[in-house]
Amino acid sequence: MRRTLIAGNWKMNGSFSANQTLLTGIIAGLPVGDAVETLVCAPAPYLAQCADVLEKSSVAWGAQDVSDHAKGAFTGEVSAAMLADCRCKYVIVGHSERRAYHAESNELVAQKAVLALSENIMPVVCVGETLEQRESGATNEVVAAQLQAVIDVLTDGQLARVVVAYEPVWAIGTGKTATPQMAQDVHAFLRSQLAIKSVAAANVVRILYGGSMKPENAKELLAMEDIDGGLIGGAALSPVDFLAIISAC
Ligand code: 13P
Repeated sequence: MRRTLIAGNWKMNGSFSANQTLLTGIIAGLPVGDAVETLVCAPAPYLAQCADVLEKSSVAWGAQDVSDHAKGAFTGEVSAAMLADCRCKYVIVGHSERRAYHAESNELVAQKAVLALSENIMPVVCVGETLEQRESGATNEVVAAQLQAVIDVLTDGQLARVVVAYEPVWAIGTGKTATPQMAQDVHAFLRSQLAIKSVAAANVVRILYGGSMKPENAKELLAMEDIDGGLIGGAALSPVDFLAIISAC
């Protein structure tokens, strides 16, 4: 029903030679069959390289961010049309690092999702609470507001093409992982929020977990009913670890 999606977020890592090794390693070790969809989200300068290397493979590529403007005088920005030119299938929007370091608001993230979809690129919308928010019992309120901004600006049909990634900020790059049940509870809540707008969309939207997902914990997390894949940071930089997570599905 919902095809598992294992996505690597390389963040600001890589070089032409390191990427070549990583990508060819992934292609070589990919399990046969199409049970799992595999995606790598590379820094913008390497998207053309991903297109070249991955073209004949089943691995998709995508970007880590997109401008909230379509074109024009926005120095340093990369538009959705440019990502489409690089044949990106997906783009991450609203990663917590962008929300934190670039002050991206829920509304701005929603606008990015709209522009991505306008170019037929599927947005991977990241949501997640900080440790302080979790400890104060605000997790659901925070992730609901982050998701609602996107729900509000999309049609039901567009919503069905979105991927959601639940990434608790306190679990990113820290080695601390949400327990499978903690993650499942938030995923089920997010799906219920989607269902208020469209039951059909809620049934097909994949909700990925991100935050210190590794070969050792992937199987348990991915076994949960509403966890439809992973958005992987550190472990996506090693072909061995990334492939091990794919095999855990
Ligand atoms: P880590 O897997 O390194 O914790 O990163 C998660 C993440 O932020 C993916 O977008």
